Amino acid sequence: MSAPAYVPLNRADEVKELLNAIQDLIIPFIASADRDAATKHTGHALKVEGGGARTALVEHYAPKKLESILQQELEIQDERGGKQGLVELVDKILRYSVNTWDQGFLDKLYASTNAVGVVSELLLAVLNTNVHIYQVSPVLTLVEKHTTKYLASLFSLPASTAGGISQPGGSASNSAAIVIARNTLYPATKTQGNGSYRFTLFTSAHGHYSIEKAANLFGLGSANVISVPVDASGCMVPSAFETLVHESKERGEVPFFLNATAGTTVHGSFDPFPALAAICKKQNMWFHIDASWGGSVVFSPQHAADRLHGAEHADSIALNPHKMLGVPMTCSFLLGRDMNTFHRALTLPAGYLFHNKPGAGVDDIYDLADLTPQCGRRADSLKMFLALQYYGAKHFADLVARGYENGEYLLAKLKANGHFLTISPEPLPCLQVCFYYAKGGELGHDAEANSKATADIANKLISRGFMIDFAPGDRGKFFRVVVNGNLLKGTLDGLVKALEETAAELGY
Ligand SMILES: Cc1ncc(COP(=O)(O)O)c(C=O)c1O
Repeated sequence: MSAPAYVPLNRADEVKELLNAIQDLIIPFIASADRDAATKHTGHALKVEGGGARTALVEHYAPKKLESILQQELEIQDERGGKQGLVELVDKILRYSVNTWDQGFLDKLYASTNAVGVVSELLLAVLNTNVHIYQVSPVLTLVEKHTTKYLASLFSLPASTAGGISQPGGSASNSAAIVIARNTLYPATKTQGNGSYRFTLFTSAHGHYSIEKAANLFGLGSANVISVPVDASGCMVPSAFETLVHESKERGEVPFFLNATAGTTVHGSFDPFPALAAICKKQNMWFHIDASWGGSVVFSPQHAADRLHGAEHADSIALNPHKMLGVPMTCSFLLGRDMNTFHRALTLPAGYLFHNKPGAGVDDIYDLADLTPQCGRRADSLKMFLALQYYGAKHFADLVARGYENGEYLLAKLKANGHFLTISPEPLPCLQVCFYYAKGGELGHDAEANSKATADIANKLISRGFMIDFAPGDRGKFFRVVVNGNLLKGTLDGLVKALEETAAELGY
């Protein structure tokens, strides 16, 4: 029997053809947001041809309505859609998605990626690699080790032992820190579980919910996450923390973990790290900093000096460059002061995967999944690495500094306007600006009415090309606008104008 005829592979041509076709859609998508930036100062985005009130930011619908609009596209087909089908689908996906390149996207703690981020994602897709073991990802393993060591050095963690691992998000970084802490401080729990220990964890009353979620996941129980009161600026009160630890011990519990925050989710507050670190040391507790949001301030010495003072005492730090720095989602790191502890806490004998026994120290660990909860791991560190190499670290210092400048600019505009009540601590701890609409400077006493006004105005702003978020407060829900270093002042002028006009249109 003769061998079947050789059929040449043409995957390279297929990729090229698809990239060309998709490029013709994604570049105009980004360009539409660039164009719209010129009109943002008017408080009205450019109207774009389309079904509803459409701007470059989005054509937004409630879920059921969107499901009916996309009914045909969402149906999985037996037949091949091919290039034409793909192009049509991508067109629809872009059309109804939120364009985070738009200046009006001020809703969450991230905005668009930077340009090199798109290239990084493409490269990761082409390599389709897995940074679990060195053999299959030699370059990207080194990239991860060097990038995390660099980031750890920015926080002044000890050069000889510090490093980090990439994680699929800040919640995952915080979760990994909890397991590493427990297994390090109480090594028997690694194999025996929580046993008779009644562990307690501590976090700020303004901390992120990922700590409670992790306690759910790891059998620690979210009721055992003890909330530490904050002061008027949203910073944890060290004396209250110490009292709560004593009380917990008196109940026979085992306090083992403090989650301090660098940049809380709503107000952006930074906890007083030196005092908290000292208490943790005295109480034999792990000192973790959730710097998922505000940790990126470390690039700007001017803004980091006070805010991150004492972070060098941390046992671990979660950092999300995908938030403030414009690195694509997801890019998150758990940095540690001693990577040997990460290894001891998480290594398992999986002989089918890990063929190299690490030597004496952290420098010898190249199979990075032996340090992480995950086996399969995306090489997200490449995105931070390429951004640093392409733009230079100085770019990020400027980006952070411009972010603060924009925050202060918006805060000053709102205060000068007379129809807003700002509630952010001052000077701004981070890049959120929080405020109520308060006609004539007077905020109503009915919290429910205030909440309704906030939500109504925020929803209506979307059709003008601005998306902002809100959060619950003592006097009802208030606006939380997240600025970034890429915003033009005109965008912030337009936002204030749009807020005022929209409130008037709605009769508030
Ligand atoms: C302070 C803080 N920690 C952790 C997280 C969770 O990060 P991720 O969304 O990457 O899981 C957030 C998210 O906004 C956050 O604000």
